[in-house]
Amino acid sequence: MTLKGCFIMNVTECVRQRKSIRAFKSDLVPYRTLRELMESALRAPSWANTQPWQFAIVSGCKLEEIRQEYVKNAEAGVRGNPELAFPQEYPEPFDSRRRFLGRKIYELKGIGRQDVAERKKWGLQGLKLFEAPCCIYIYIERSFCFQANGLNLWPIFDCGLIAENIMLLALEYGLGTIPEAAAATYPDVLHRILEIPDTKLIVLGIAIGYPDWDNIVNKLQSERAPLDNLTRWYGFNPDSD
Ligand SMILES: Cc1cc2nc3c(=O)[nH]c(=O)nc-3n(C[C@H](O)[C@H](O)[C@H](O)COP(=O)(O)O)c2cc1C
Repeated sequence: MTLKGCFIMNVTECVRQRKSIRAFKSDLVPYRTLRELMESALRAPSWANTQPWQFAIVSGCKLEEIRQEYVKNAEAGVRGNPELAFPQEYPEPFDSRRRFLGRKIYELKGIGRQDVAERKKWGLQGLKLFEAPCCIYIYIERSFCFQANGLNLWPIFDCGLIAENIMLLALEYGLGTIPEAAAATYPDVLHRILEIPDTKLIVLGIAIGYPDWDNIVNKLQSERAPLDNLTRWYGFNPDSD
């Protein structure tokens, strides 16, 4: 631990320790901490250094307003219309992985298969950013994506890179994060409350705050497919290298 109270980890530790946090303490994240973290995160690479990302970093009343609008919409049965559509289908093995994750979360929370009310309540928690005290919304210029010759997906790819920077750097400050597509479920709410022009496309929200380690949901350790199932090696000799 340093004098600043930051935890210094090496990169491997950061990558291995990062995980999605789904319960936060209510403590606010200081502005200076977020500024410092974001300044470092900006070192992420991007296509031709275009740095397509922009951020709305939201806390306090504004975030409460967003949470309330999201819950109101969900309870009124308003369908989400995220600007990056959620997948309609999950071919295998992706569907199995997704279901496995869901099962593990419900098991940990002790929510049964038939318990519709509790499942709905948990779904709302996602929309409420798991009560995180802050959310970093990442958005991009719509015209950079939708081009005459089709979709340019690279700005979205670049947002993924900076998102991971943010989430790894957060560990150094004792902060936890979760990247949330759910945070962008109702983009019209975000455009209105945060005064983000319609020329921008909202990609993702990263909920950020101090993890509530006493909450059982944060015990979740997600699985990974084994490296050998995913990788082909060329030009190596595993027996001698
Ligand atoms: C683009 C993206 C969107 C995500 N959206 C959500 C979400 O809306 N709700 C949620 O609970 N988790 C969300 N996650 C978190 C994933 O479920 C999580 O990263 C995955 O299960 C692996 O677990 P880990 O982050 O703990 O390693 C999202 C992750 C990514 C990369």
